[in-house]
Amino acid sequence: MQAITAHNQISKIVSQAKAQGKTVGFVPTMGALHRGHASLIDYALKDCALIVVSIFVNPTQFNNVTDLEKYPRTIEKDLAFLSHYGSKVAVYNPSPEEIYGNNVSSKGYDFGHLETVMEGEHRPGHFDGVGTVLNILFRQVNPHKAYFGEKDFQQLTIVRKLVDIENLDLEIIGCPIHRQEDGLAMSSRNARLTEHQLEIAPFIYESLLYAKNNFDSLSARELKGYIESIYKEKDGLELEYFEIVNIKNLRTLSRKRKNQQYRAFLAVYAGEVRLIDNIALN
Ligand code: PAJ
Repeated sequence: MQAITAHNQISKIVSQAKAQGKTVGFVPTMGALHRGHASLIDYALKDCALIVVSIFVNPTQFNNVTDLEKYPRTIEKDLAFLSHYGSKVAVYNPSPEEIYGNNVSSKGYDFGHLETVMEGEHRPGHFDGVGTVLNILFRQVNPHKAYFGEKDFQQLTIVRKLVDIENLDLEIIGCPIHRQEDGLAMSSRNARLTEHQLEIAPFIYESLLYAKNNFDSLSARELKGYIESIYKEKDGLELEYFEIVNIKNLRTLSRKRKNQQYRAFLAVYAGEVRLIDNIALN
């Protein structure tokens, strides 16, 4: 399988498919593909006759140079992985110039409160970078629908807002988190974990399950206090944040209200590797 590297070529393939009456789906990724990514493609296959998968490690969304340098790049393996889908999947693997020209920088977006909490608070500039690259990719690929994982739930919320701000004509579809059997959410960053870290990392999902199972009986403050305390005792994992928020506006839960949905979010360091996860609480 060969990747398309030119934006005018991917635009052409998509417009030809549309002219044939095909629904076109888009799954943007940064590569190092795993079954979590495959689950998005499988969702897209239910509605779409052609799916564009982009593979682009976007420099502007990394607020940490080492994280960008160490991000796994496995293009040959990724192409072999995607070749199983046959002609229903087209791969777009642009160079930075194809996306940014000679100006590799972010646009300054105003996503309001959504970008000031959790990932936004701990990774300054991250969502401007995500918004910038997706705005460019959406315009180059021009799909009917784009698929995003709830693994990055805050990103999914911000992408919906981006579509509003940029007045884009496409449907954003959120897909559930794909986990290993031991509960660890699949992530490209898992490839950087040592054997020992892989053994202890399922604790992250266990802590989220604890929050879910005790959401009715404990207050949000009690839950947060408890989760923070168990990470203090846990060797090898360092909690960066744990938050319980309303999924509509990502505001911290202070008083539970009926008919509102809440989710718990966390970021954890296993050595140098930063992992994020979240869970629906009700
Ligand atoms: P990346 O981390 O490669 O993820 C690509 C897509 O796969 C995202 O929508 C992410 O939420 C989804 N995904 C990753 N792991 C998943 C899992 N275990 N279960 C379900 N979905 C999962 O997110 C990005 O890349 C970038 O920020 C991007 C949107 C491509 C912009 O550069």
